[in-house]
Amino acid sequence: MDAVEALAASDPSIKGIFFVPTYSNPTGDTISDENVRRLANLKTAAPDFTILADDAYCVHHLTDTPATPLNLLTACAEAGYPDRVYLFGSTSKITFASGGVGFLATSEANLAYLGKLYGMQTIGPNKVEQYRHWKFITSYPGGLAGLMADHARLIAPKFSAVQEVLDQELGGTGLASWTNPQGGYFISLDTALPIADRVVQLANEAGVSLTPAGATYPHGRDPHNRNIRLAPTRPPVAEVIQAMEIVALCIKLASAERGE
Ligand SMILES: Cc1ncc(COP(=O)(O)O)c(C=O)c1O
Repeated sequence: MDAVEALAASDPSIKGIFFVPTYSNPTGDTISDENVRRLANLKTAAPDFTILADDAYCVHHLTDTPATPLNLLTACAEAGYPDRVYLFGSTSKITFASGGVGFLATSEANLAYLGKLYGMQTIGPNKVEQYRHWKFITSYPGGLAGLMADHARLIAPKFSAVQEVLDQELGGTGLASWTNPQGGYFISLDTALPIADRVVQLANEAGVSLTPAGATYPHGRDPHNRNIRLAPTRPPVAEVIQAMEIVALCIKLASAERGE
């Protein structure tokens, strides 16, 4: 935030910031209340500085103690910058990936601007899909929270399985460190040595497909070649365990190859 404040205040060509407030992809970090306030009160050289907050994981809790960061919209309005923020999300990881609905929250002035812009681009959203979503979510036992709790029941054991195998195979070796997220969809793993691409390659050769090394960095280039994003949600638990044993083995192999 110190760097964000210094840069935004000094360079009018910096027009905004894009980030994930809750259970960020890939680290699982959630913004602190203090940083919400700092963003809302940012003094910016660009008068139209905009915060694009991608809250893709705001209801994707893996525990019974959900992250509840301060509301950016309210914070910006209170700071005197009601038009500063667009907060958006989708049901991609709630109902059906690539077949869901997207939504956003912003000031009335921004909504008027967007309404005009989108009015030129499209005749309108798919209202049948919107209705289908409304019907499904409101009739689900417990509503949206009930649906997400059921998702968590399915995927939390997979996240736990990743932690258990990594702890068992790599704990105390100093070869890698990894996050233990409380929500979202990913575990972020950093190898100690610059071998992420080699680990992904070795794992692929052994039949385990991982997200390409560096995928979460701008232009897909991790300058340290250390980060691998693990996505354990889809395979059954037994396969997650097997896959993580292979990943751990590949980290050991690739580290040994370096001979450091
Ligand atoms: C932070 C974040 N935003 C957006 C998306 C995708 O959302 P959509 O499918 O609605 O474009 C993802 C992942 O799929 C994500 O991790």
